[in-house]
Amino acid sequence: MVVNETGINEIVDRRLFYYPGFSIYNELGGFYDYGPIGLRIKRNIESAWRRLFVERLGSLEIESTTILPEAVLKASGHVATFTDPIASCVKCGTAYRIDKLLEEFYEKMKDTASLNAVKKLSIEEMEDRIDENEIACEKCGGRLTKVERFNLMFRTNIGQKGETAYLRPETAQGVFLDFKDIFRSYGLKLPSPICQVGKAYRNEISPRQRLVRMREFTQMETELFFDPEKDQSELNRTRMDDILDTTVRFVEAGQEIVLEQSLRDLVRSGLVPNNYFAMMLHLEKRLLAHLGISDEKYRFRQLEKEELPHYSKGNVDLEISTEYGYIEVAGNAYRGDYDLSAHAKLSGSDMSVVNDGKKVVPHVIEASIGLDRMLLAMLSNAITDDQRGWPWLNLPRQVAPYAYAIFPLQKDTKILETAFSLYQRMVDSGVQCYYSESGSIGKRYAKADEMGVMHCVTIDFQSIEDGTATIRDRNTTKQERKPIGEIK
Ligand code: GAP
Repeated sequence: MVVNETGINEIVDRRLFYYPGFSIYNELGGFYDYGPIGLRIKRNIESAWRRLFVERLGSLEIESTTILPEAVLKASGHVATFTDPIASCVKCGTAYRIDKLLEEFYEKMKDTASLNAVKKLSIEEMEDRIDENEIACEKCGGRLTKVERFNLMFRTNIGQKGETAYLRPETAQGVFLDFKDIFRSYGLKLPSPICQVGKAYRNEISPRQRLVRMREFTQMETELFFDPEKDQSELNRTRMDDILDTTVRFVEAGQEIVLEQSLRDLVRSGLVPNNYFAMMLHLEKRLLAHLGISDEKYRFRQLEKEELPHYSKGNVDLEISTEYGYIEVAGNAYRGDYDLSAHAKLSGSDMSVVNDGKKVVPHVIEASIGLDRMLLAMLSNAITDDQRGWPWLNLPRQVAPYAYAIFPLQKDTKILETAFSLYQRMVDSGVQCYYSESGSIGKRYAKADEMGVMHCVTIDFQSIEDGTATIRDRNTTKQERKPIGEIK
């Protein structure tokens, strides 16, 4: 049984997986620090992603700067169009993202038609809806100001002259800027995927639902550069035919029903733009399996025209069911040559490459995964209550914060030495291990379960006598004795 939101947040808060940043000074929303366990889990998700999107796909990975001069973001379109509609309360000043406020209002009214139409509304139409429905400030009931567009980027100034710059709103732009040099220096051929993991920053008007809408978050992005005129039967020696057999859960734009369809059919019917786009959906589905998120919890959703980002020729979001309902965890986009051409135009640098003797400005398929949202979705789906007296995290071994917890049962010198040397041996051989001497054994088991540790090893007096230890399995709570030398 999956427990409710309170259950998840209870563990997250008690074990400090993540918590509001700088909270002794200020209650600014949207900034979260990761504690020791949360960070281990986050890193393990990143490693699972890297195995698929970097190693398996045959990508190169870079790390670019998080501050970008204004010219870069003018070219990318973010200065002009990366905005949300906002209005604030005339009495208390609380700011609202108006599209979200209207969506929440229509959801409460169970008016699905109006709810679905919000994304298509102009600023003036949003104002009309606010007036018609007499929607007021949720905090004090005050009237709302006129709706205006608010740019979501954090602005800063560089150096003594104060040149305008921004914290990057996506990691992708660094990849586009570096692409040509990497392509040449590494002797790449199209298609070529390049990845980046890192922080992105958005000055969200109403951050909420913890890791869902943050102001500083981590993205894992893959930009797949390709020649649109070439056939897409292979990608780095992987035959696309095999990939296209994958069946996925898919919702067409304007529809609500989830259909199970093969990627081949989705490409054929144009719902998925091309084979390489399908490859991203295939890898995302595999990533979910690695993270223990079961099939019925996800769906791919084709975006409506009105929802498409300014650079997109087609978008499919990965949505996962959580205690907050379905949330968007990844955005997949066909960006065309929008970015490379825009940077070429504004910078005056030629961004084309020579591929098979032909000059080409590559097109791009992007898979942009939000790491924090993925972690939230994974935890939501991992939390289990089987009446053992405490909820626990059913995480697969590769993402669990530790494979083993090692507990000396008594504070006897020999027991402590044996337990600690087992800990050191395991750590030296690359197994993620946790060591704790404090608390009753029952409490230590409960804590390990809450953290999602796979096995607990208890060293006691018998261990000193016959070299065995008790191993407890997290999922079954069954215990067995085993020679210490066999634990790995
Ligand atoms: N480069 C494309 C891009 O940034 P996006 O759909 O705006 O596309 C991609 O963002 C992913 O980043 C989202 O699917 C989500 O998981 C994550 N993300 C975006 N805004 C976020 C926020 N305010 N808080 C947490 N995660 C966010």
